[in-house]
This record gives sequence, C-alpha cells and structure tokens, in this order.
Amino acid sequence: MLKNYKDTILIIDFGSQYTHLIKRRLRELEVHSIIVPPDISMEEILSLPPKGIILSGGPESVYEPDSPKIDRAIFSLNIPVLGICYGLQLIAFLFGGRTKRSKNREYGRNKIFLKESKLFKGIPEKITVWMSHGDSVELPPDGFHTTSVSENNIIASIEKDNIFGLQFHPEVNHTEYGKKILDNFLNICKCKRDWVEKDIIEEKIEEIKKIVGNEKVIVGVSGGVDSTVVAILLKKGIGKNLIPVFVDTGLLRKNEKEEIINSFKEKLNIDLISVDAKERFLNRLKGVVDPEEKRKIIGEEFIRVFEEIGKKHKVKYLAQGTLYTDVIESGVSKGPSKTIKTHHNVGGIPKDISFKIIEPLRDLFKDEVRALARKLGVPDEILMRHPFPGPGLSIRIIGEITEEKLKILREADYIFIQELKREGLYHKVWQAFCVLLPVKTVGVMGDRRTYEYTVVLRAVESRDGMTADSSNLPLSFLKKVASRIINEVEGVNRVVYDLSSKPPSTIEWE
Ligand code: XMP
Repeated sequence: MLKNYKDTILIIDFGSQYTHLIKRRLRELEVHSIIVPPDISMEEILSLPPKGIILSGGPESVYEPDSPKIDRAIFSLNIPVLGICYGLQLIAFLFGGRTKRSKNREYGRNKIFLKESKLFKGIPEKITVWMSHGDSVELPPDGFHTTSVSENNIIASIEKDNIFGLQFHPEVNHTEYGKKILDNFLNICKCKRDWVEKDIIEEKIEEIKKIVGNEKVIVGVSGGVDSTVVAILLKKGIGKNLIPVFVDTGLLRKNEKEEIINSFKEKLNIDLISVDAKERFLNRLKGVVDPEEKRKIIGEEFIRVFEEIGKKHKVKYLAQGTLYTDVIESGVSKGPSKTIKTHHNVGGIPKDISFKIIEPLRDLFKDEVRALARKLGVPDEILMRHPFPGPGLSIRIIGEITEEKLKILREADYIFIQELKREGLYHKVWQAFCVLLPVKTVGVMGDRRTYEYTVVLRAVESRDGMTADSSNLPLSFLKKVASRIINEVEGVNRVVYDLSSKPPSTIEWE
C-alpha cells in the first residue's frame, strides 16, 4: 500500500524519459509526489488519496493495442488531472476525441498561442515550448475546449473542468513558463507546499527499508558524494545489515584510500571494509586501449569483487549511487538518448550479476544530492571534493595503462590539486585533474636531451557535468604548476592546458 505523508501528487508513468523531471519540478515547488505504473488499482489511488494526478508522456501511441491505458474512473474522482503528451492523447482517446497518428515521434521547439485558462494564469500569450511531434489531437472530445495552438496549427492544450491536457512538456527547461504551468496546476489541486529535504531523507529511508527488509546490502563507497549519501541513508535505514566496501582498484589518486577510510571512520562513524584489488584490475586492463572497453572491464570487475564479499556475508542487494543524469547519458533510459559514455555504475554492469540492484538516488540530480548530503552531515572534505569517475585514473591515461604511467599521473595530479588548494582556487573550479598522454616529445634538461611524456591540465566550470567550459585559471598559476610538474615528476617534460568545452568535447578525455 502506498504511504501518504503529505499532500501528494500521483504521477502515472507511461515511460517518458522526462517522468522523473516532473517529480523534480514538483520537489522544487515543495510538493511531494510519487511515480506509479499505469496498472495502479483504484483502491490504491483512493488509499492516498492524491490531491492531483499527472499522466506522463510515453513513447507509444494510444492506438497500439498493447499501449498502456488507465481506468477511466480516475476522471470521476473529482481530483484534478493533467495529461502531458501521451497523457493528453490518452485523455482524448478515453473521452472519444480524435487524434492524428504519426509514424515518428520527435521533440522540438515550437511557439504556441495561449487562450484564457486557469492553467496559464500569469503567463504571456505567446511562449516557446518543447513539443512532441508525435500523435496529436485533431478534434477535442465533447465538452473539452482548446486552450492553445501552435504556430503550425497543432492543438497544444485542451481542458474540461479540472481535466487538462498538454501536447508539450512543461517539465523540461526549454519550455518557457513550464514550471509556472505546473505551479498553477498545483494551485488548482489546492496542494500544500510543505515538502522539504528532511522529508526526502525520510522517504528514501522508508523506501530502502521497504525494499530490503532484513536482507544485507553491499555498497561500494568511492569517497564521492553520491556513494557517501547512499551509505549514510542505508546506515540509517538498515544499520548493521549494511556492508560498506572500499575497493582499491590501483586506479586511485595519491593518498586517496587512507583519506577516505579515515574520514568515514572519524566523521561518519562508518567502518569501511577495504579490499585490495589492484592486481586483478591492472591484470585485466593489460593491453586495453579502447575507452569503452576499459569502462566495461572496470564495471564488471567491481561487480566480481562485490560478489566475492557478498557470498561471504550472504548479501542479497547491491546499492549504487546512480543519479538521474547517469541514467540519461548512459543511454539506458527508454527515451531517445544515445550512449555517450558507459558509466561504470549504470551501463557497465554485467548481465549475469548475482545481486539485486537498488539505486536510491536514481531520480535525483547532482545539486539535489549535494543538498541532501549537507543535511545528512557529510563533512566538507567529502562534500566539496571534485567529482572523480568510477573508472578512476584509467580514463585519464590515454591508451594502455601501466604502473609507470599511473605513478607519473598520480604525482602530477597531486601537484596540480595541491597548488589549486594553496592558491584558494580548488573550490572555484568545478573539477580539475591531469591527463597523461602516451605522446613523448623532446626536451632539454640540464644540458641533456629528454624524451618524455606530456601531461594535460584540465579544469572546468560546470553546474551538473552535462555541459562545461574550461576554467579561466591565471596564466601565472598555470605556469607555476607546469614548472613544478616538469621539475618534480620524473618522466614528464611538457605540460599543456586543455581549453575545450563540453560539448563538443567531454570533461574526461576518455
Ligand atoms: P564527461 O567526461 O562525460 O564527464 O563529460 C562528466 C562528469 O562525469 C564524470 N564521469 C564519471 N563518473 N563514472 C562516474 O562515476 C564514470 O564512468 C564517469 N565518466 C565520467 C566526470 O568525471 C565528469 O565529472
């Protein structure tokens, strides 16, 4: 049975990649919501009951015989309903309107013209929206009227009493006044705005308890914010049944292992089980140069290490700190997004895994996780650390990974980060690190010819890692770092600064 803490909006998920964005927008508007599948029973809905219902978008057409539908009775509950895209078409279909079928479903910007509607209160008459060019309503059902049309004459919204349908997505950033539309819908629902971070923490803990019961859960802790938050939530939810593991892959930065184990023990009162897996990771990576292959090998090896520990402790679940952006970029969501990089904790999981996976942060974004971490008392040294990818230094050594290259990169990176901290610049950039190129060039040192590697300094500004620009670090600072690296790190005679932005580049080099 669903549990009702507060005024709640029910989001019925028809498979759109934006469904979680709806939940996020409602969170920003301080309203609690839950996402449920279309086959939710009327009893379950009535057990809440929600203050409003949102029908999400979805990839299918309402005319396909197996496409998901809902019980028409939900429209008789006297609860406001907002259908988005597929949700709108479903409303039209169930009330006997006529929809135009389209073979392709694509998304794009469109201008629409608004008429008078409670849903559009306080919004200019002409706005740009993110529209789905899939099926659209040709003739609204009886009793419904059109409240907006697009430049190319597509019906962009319809309504009747407290039932609303939008052909466009108010939840995406590209839709102007999208959040305001959702805000107006919440007003129509007479929904209280009282959902705060403390409630998210409680909800997550409840969710974890409900799923895992008395079983044990392994969590791989990397020292980053995401896995730390997962570990704390689990500790609060299941106490001793949490098995927190730190894997030394041999691909870590200088002093990283000791720092993380100590801060967990001293600041969070969590004893990490430390596993030395250096040899097995490096053995499997021998001779591998392809970035995706590196990522897949590492993803799999992590799981194999966890499985061995899992067997010993009779563990059923593996918890991961996957965020919503990881899900989108790894291309595992149902939407049209393509795989950019296989993040080791999403797409890199082997198929024959012996755990059930739980991902308590899967519907959250990085900035939301940071806010939760702060609430949970995560110390600044973890909270303010730059992101570090799961595959570690392996994707910062271009080409084959060797012990020698790892040593060079570790020393160079340590100097760069140390100087950033010393100059008060560490917290001003979003992420900074070194990359080692497999390129040797000629230099001269103390009258001797050298033929050594090149190190790249990478520092970026970003909000969420999805887009980024290179940081404007002072030239004098960069020169100082370059000089220290060349003088102090054996094997390097050239240092360069990466000026590219994302897109078209990415933050990591592999
Ligand atoms: P890219 O290189 O895709 O990086 O522009 C965006 C952000 O994601 C981090 N990143 C990863 N994090 N596992 C992770 O946990 C991964 O496989 C991975 N690949 C990239 C990267 O450091 C940057 O912050």
